[in-house]
Amino acid sequence: MSRKEERDQAIAETLEKVRAEDGDTRQSLAAIRDHMIALAQRRELFPEEDFPIPEDGSGEVFDVLSRDDDGRHELYIEVANKHVWTPPHNHTTWAVVVGIQGVELNRIWEGDGGPTGEAPLRLAREVEVRNGTGVCLMPNDFHSIHMEEGVHNMHLHLYGLGFAHLKGRLMFDQESGSYRSFD
Ligand SMILES: [Fe+2]
Repeated sequence: MSRKEERDQAIAETLEKVRAEDGDTRQSLAAIRDHMIALAQRRELFPEEDFPIPEDGSGEVFDVLSRDDDGRHELYIEVANKHVWTPPHNHTTWAVVVGIQGVELNRIWEGDGGPTGEAPLRLAREVEVRNGTGVCLMPNDFHSIHMEEGVHNMHLHLYGLGFAHLKGRLMFDQESGSYRSFD
């Protein structure tokens, strides 16, 4: 079996376990995260040579590894060697991020600002996503992600529903203190 076939099989087996969870509760999401951590810990399946930093100058690529026919369980690998700094945003579906190598700092935000930004989000906690760790987000949780240049980062991002199906995503603009569409 080639390495790609082995990787695809490991991904398929992991997603079978993920599909047995509904992702509707934090407990279920934690179980999904643990299945994903186990996958990401098989680092021999994700060597840098199979996931190089793109040479187009972007420093970053976000590749789909798997997606169910109905659009659920969209799995990406994010490969990056650049300064990444996103605004706080939600996904309107559950999400799990786990590390293969490098560090993706996840800031988890909380607040009751509502869609018109009556109150700003506050930083609740930070999680350094690296090999062996992960973060879980319910559909209306806000996170921001932060990476530094000089590291060949590889992280797996799994979404309950694929991006093409998501509507009404929001980001929080810290300068103006208000929410904006993030579709
Ligand atoms: Fe995100």
